[in-house]
Amino acid sequence: MKLAVFASGSGSNFQAIVDAVEEGRLQAEISLLVCDKPGAYAEKRAQTHGISVFSFHPKEYSGKAAFEEEIVKQLRQQEIDMIILAGYMRLIGPTLLHSYEGRIFNIHPSLLPAFPGKDAIGQAWRAGVKVTGATIHMVDEGMDTGTIIAQEAIPVKATDSLQSLTKAIQAVEHRLYPDTIQSIIEKRTLEGSQIKNEH
Ligand code: GRF
Repeated sequence: MKLAVFASGSGSNFQAIVDAVEEGRLQAEISLLVCDKPGAYAEKRAQTHGISVFSFHPKEYSGKAAFEEEIVKQLRQQEIDMIILAGYMRLIGPTLLHSYEGRIFNIHPSLLPAFPGKDAIGQAWRAGVKVTGATIHMVDEGMDTGTIIAQEAIPVKATDSLQSLTKAIQAVEHRLYPDTIQSIIEKRTLEGSQIKNEH
């Protein structure tokens, strides 16, 4: 199973996925990092681990369809099976969605459908909720709206600050995302072998 991870920033979730592969907890190959912010720290992490990077400036293309066509080309060259969004700060357009239907996943730092979009941890903090969390979902054309696959709740403690809450959510994300990707791969491998056996 060959994965491409898409990231725009620090890439701590990307790192957690790479670590899980290197430690044998995730049976997959991370073949490509796609980054829409050349120079982002995620690129350094990829270089350290010998992972290919496709980095691009969206503004250098005529629009989303044009840069997504280029991404699809890169994904096909690397024979990517699955796309893992990890802090990729863009909506996925029809070009990518149709090429990888049902094979694009995202992680979001809230208990969706609460607090979709940017700054989800800040939104939850300002709303004064007592429980928040992390969600892994399938990607559709909406903003954090696809089918939910896994969620974990995290209490907001009286002693928390926005910073400590952010740390607690990240710690959960770094465990939940690799574990969930592994479960998805196991389920799909099983379904694949069942389909073959039926023929
Ligand atoms: C994570 O909180 C993830 O849930 C959200 O973007 C953040 C990315 O952080 N989609 P990092 O770049 O993985 O550190």
